[in-house]
Amino acid sequence: MEKAGLLLYINVMTHSLENKTVLLIITGGIAAYKALDLIRLIKKAGGDVRCILTEGGAQFVTPLSVSALSENEVYTDLFSLKDESEMGHIRLSREADLIIVAPASADFIAKMAHGRADDLASATILASDKPILIAPAMNPEMWAKEAAQDNIAALKERGITTIGPAQGDTACGETGTGRMSEPEEIFAAIIGFFHEQPLKGYKALVTAGPTYEPIDPVRFLGNRSSGKQGYAIATALFEAGAEVTLVAGPSVLPDPPGITTQRIETAQEMWQACEAALPAHIAVCAAAVSDWAPKTQKDSKIKKRRNHTPPSIALKENPDILARLAKAGPQRPDMLIGFAAETDNLIENAREKLSRKNCDLIVANAINAGEKVFGSDQNHVHLVTIHEDEHWPRADKKVIARKLVQRIVKHLKEDQDNVARIHAA
Ligand code: C5P
Repeated sequence: MEKAGLLLYINVMTHSLENKTVLLIITGGIAAYKALDLIRLIKKAGGDVRCILTEGGAQFVTPLSVSALSENEVYTDLFSLKDESEMGHIRLSREADLIIVAPASADFIAKMAHGRADDLASATILASDKPILIAPAMNPEMWAKEAAQDNIAALKERGITTIGPAQGDTACGETGTGRMSEPEEIFAAIIGFFHEQPLKGYKALVTAGPTYEPIDPVRFLGNRSSGKQGYAIATALFEAGAEVTLVAGPSVLPDPPGITTQRIETAQEMWQACEAALPAHIAVCAAAVSDWAPKTQKDSKIKKRRNHTPPSIALKENPDILARLAKAGPQRPDMLIGFAAETDNLIENAREKLSRKNCDLIVANAINAGEKVFGSDQNHVHLVTIHEDEHWPRADKKVIARKLVQRIVKHLKEDQDNVARIHAA
C-alpha cells in the first residue's frame, strides 16, 4: 500500500468510531433495553451517539438512562420549541454519519415504509439524507405477516439495511424469528459500515496476557504481560471483519466489544480454550505463557517457618500452545503468528523460534534497557519470516495491531492467489 494510503488506514482504524456520529432511534419494544448496551459499545469505540426516543421507546427505557449513557441530550418531541430551536429534526439527521433504528418496532417500520412524519423519529427519517440501518424486533407472528414483510421489502428496495431479526425465544413467550439482534451484532454492522472488512468470513484466535501458575492458594508464578498488544490485535481483527475468539490470561483490560473472550488462568487452561476455538483461519499467539508450572499445587498456604530453609518449588514444563497449534494437522490455522521477546540477537533468535515452532511469522520485540514494553501503550517490533525481516518504528500498540492485520490480509490473499494459480494450471 502507498505510504499515504497506509497512514490513512492506520488513522481511520486506530479508534474505530472516532469522529463518527451515530443517530440512534429507539422505538417501542421490550428490546429497547438492549439499545442501552449498543450506546455503550459505540461510545467505547470512540463514537458520538445522539438518541431519539419515541413515545413507545420511552415506555421501556428512560430518557435519563439514554442521556447518561450517550452523554448527550435525548430528543423526544417534534413539537418541542426548545429541542427544535437547539437541534431541529433536519439537523439531527444532517449531523449524523449513520442512522440506526434499534429496536425497530413493526409500527415504526410501517411508518417508515409509508413515509409518515407525525413524530420526531419518523420526521427525522423522512427528512434524512443519510444511510439507515434498522434492527427489527417484534413477535414472530407479526414478523411473518405479509403486511410486515411487504414493508420490510419496500425499505430494502430503497436501500435501507436490516440486521436480523434473530431466531429464539421472545419476551412474549413465543419462539420464532422476531428477536432483535444482539447489540454486539448491530455494533459489528456499524463497524462494517465504516470500515472495509477484508476478513469477513474468517475465524481468528488470539492469545493475550500472562498466565498464572498456582503454587498454593495465594501464590503463583506469573509475568508482567499487560495483554494490551494481544487485545489490540483481537480488536483490529474484529474491525477487519473476522469472527474473533480471544483467550486471555489475567488482565485488567475489559472484554473487547464484539469479540468472544475466554478468560483463563493457567497455560493448560489456555491450551484447552484454544483447542476448543479451532478450527480458525488465523491464530496470533501474543500471550506471555509461563514456560513452567509448579509440579504440584499445595492445597493450603505454604507457611514461613523460622530457621527453616526456604521451600524449593519443583517445576514441570507447560504446553507450548503456539507449537501445538502448528501441529494441529488439518486444523492448523492458515496463518500462525508468534511473538518473541528477546534481549540479544533478536533476528537470529526470532528466526530460530519461527522454524522450531513452525509458524508463519514472528513479531519480535527487542527488550532493550531503557525501552519500556511491558505495560506500555507502545511497542517496538521487527517482523521476521523465513526470508525477510522488517523493522517497524516504535508505535502505539493499536497501530502495530492494524499494521499486523494488514500483513495478515496480504498473506492470506497471496495464498489464495497461489491456490487459484495452481488450479488454473
Ligand atoms: O518460546 P517463547 O516463549 O519465547 O515463545 C514465544 C511465543 O510462543 C509467543 O508467541 C508465545 O505466545 C508462544 N508460547 C506459547 N506457549 C508457551 C510458550 C510460548 O504459545 N508455552
